[in-house]
Amino acid sequence: MGVRWIVTYPDTVLRERAEPVTDIDGKIQQLIDDMADTMYHAQNAIGLASNQVGEPCRIIMFDISAKDAPNDLIVLLNPEIIEADGLIVNEEGCLSIIDYRADVKRSERVTVKGIDREGNPITLQKEGLAAIVLQHEIDHLNGTLFIDHISKLRRELYKRRLKKKLLKERDSSSQRL
Ligand code: NI
Repeated sequence: MGVRWIVTYPDTVLRERAEPVTDIDGKIQQLIDDMADTMYHAQNAIGLASNQVGEPCRIIMFDISAKDAPNDLIVLLNPEIIEADGLIVNEEGCLSIIDYRADVKRSERVTVKGIDREGNPITLQKEGLAAIVLQHEIDHLNGTLFIDHISKLRRELYKRRLKKKLLKERDSSSQRL
C-alpha cells in the first residue's frame, strides 16, 4: 500500500484510545511498513503513531535523524512509559495538527517498555528529543495531542484559526466546477 493518508485534527480517530496489538500478523507488518513509508514521505517527520493513519492500534515509530529514508528507525508496539524524570521545554509540531507549533513541557528522560515488530520485548532509555518524541507518540495512542498540553487560551486561538482556514478552503473549493 505504501504511503497512507494522514488523519488531521479534529478527526475523532485522534481522540480514541488505541487498542493493544495482540497478534503481530501480516496485516500489522504491512501497517508498520506503510507507516514507515508515510513518515519518511512527510517532510521533517520524526515520529508517527498508528492512529494518525486511521488505525487505532498501539504502534509508534520514530527516527530523529529526520532523513527521508530509514536511518535510525525504531518501531515500538504497545509502548508504555515506566519511568520519567526531569523537565524539558521544546517547540513541538505534529503531522496531524496543521500549521501550528507551540512550546510543550515534557519529561527530559523516559524509560519505555514495549515489543518490537518481531514480538521481542524491548526497553528504551532516551533523553532529549528522542524522549520528547516518545512522549508525543505515546500520547497519540491515548487520544492526547500536543495542543492538550498548552494553555486553554492558546488552544482556543488555534481552534478559531483552524476553523477560519477550513471554512475558507470549503468556500474556495465550492467555486470549482
Ligand atoms: Ni503528532
